[in-house]
Amino acid sequence: MKSEKSPFPFSLSSFHSLRDVEFRWHEPLAHHTTFRVGGPVLCLANPKTEDSLVELMRIIRKDGVPYLILGEGSNVLAPDHLLNAVAIQLAQACAEIRRCEEKSGEGIRIYAGAGLRLARCLGFCLRHRLSGMESLVGIPGTIGGALIMNAGTAQGCIADSLIWIECLDSEGRRRRLFKSELTVKYRSIELPKDWVVLGACFRLTTVSDGILKSRLRELIKKRKLAQPLGYPSAGCAFKNPPHCSAGLLIDKVGLKGFRIGDAQISEKHANWIINRGNAESWDILALLQRMEDEVFAHFGIRLEREIRVLES
Ligand code: EPU
Repeated sequence: MKSEKSPFPFSLSSFHSLRDVEFRWHEPLAHHTTFRVGGPVLCLANPKTEDSLVELMRIIRKDGVPYLILGEGSNVLAPDHLLNAVAIQLAQACAEIRRCEEKSGEGIRIYAGAGLRLARCLGFCLRHRLSGMESLVGIPGTIGGALIMNAGTAQGCIADSLIWIECLDSEGRRRRLFKSELTVKYRSIELPKDWVVLGACFRLTTVSDGILKSRLRELIKKRKLAQPLGYPSAGCAFKNPPHCSAGLLIDKVGLKGFRIGDAQISEKHANWIINRGNAESWDILALLQRMEDEVFAHFGIRLEREIRVLES
């Protein structure tokens, strides 16, 4: 990269040495997020191998470069202006999926890389007649993102079948954390700060092809009925408060269908914001704020955002 392109308080000059990383400069995040919203990011980095990811992270940490792991961009709201950071995708570096050696009486184990899309993981399960991850069907995103968020539905979450997570720690060492060592919560698995998820091992069981297919079909049908899956969105905007549903609360304050610009609170499900065409980040932020304010004013409940708002 030419030095005049870097008027930032950090240096990207060491990136020159990284042969196995694909860099795209000032790449529009609208092309890489499920909301289809967002201005350019300073740099989009796609390491081709796990080793090149390790090297990229070493340089990023040494030079104090702001970064984020973007995944499939399914749970984020990117700003309209330049995001002054390096966004990392793991679609190539951590895309492996395979059956692990089996231990008698412990079911089947699979390893899935953090950059693998959930849909591909479920496709693998279907081909190998493996049950345990069906609750994730229809959720966009990658294995890594789903782990950080402990993604799930009323039917279950990704942590249910988890055995261990493999991460890169802040010193660049590969570390394996078993589920018993993790703090698993509703919509989060807490990892030490600055660790990068590389992949995870899951325990599954074999079932008949017919049972698995009909289970998946039933779950997709339910989701299509309740959720506006045809529009760009980031899924549920807020976590459910304890013993309550965020969608129900937002519905009760009368915000269903409320629109700012091309951003709209879905008429189908009040906890979803959809992009009806050319929504801007500011429109969506204003809707999030409005939903929070109205629910607090009516019910005294502070909604917690599930969508991660990116800032620089
Ligand atoms: N409801 C309303 N009005 C609405 C939306 C919902 O009254 O506009 C009511 C429903 O009638 C129902 C209750 O609220 O009685 C719960 O709604 P729903 O069954 O749709 O589930 P949810 O709690 O809103 C959760 C997950 C979804 C997941 C579904 C299906 C969270 C925040 N959301 O939604 O996950 O797909 O269950 O199992 O946990 C996501 O996290 O992005 C997500 C989409």
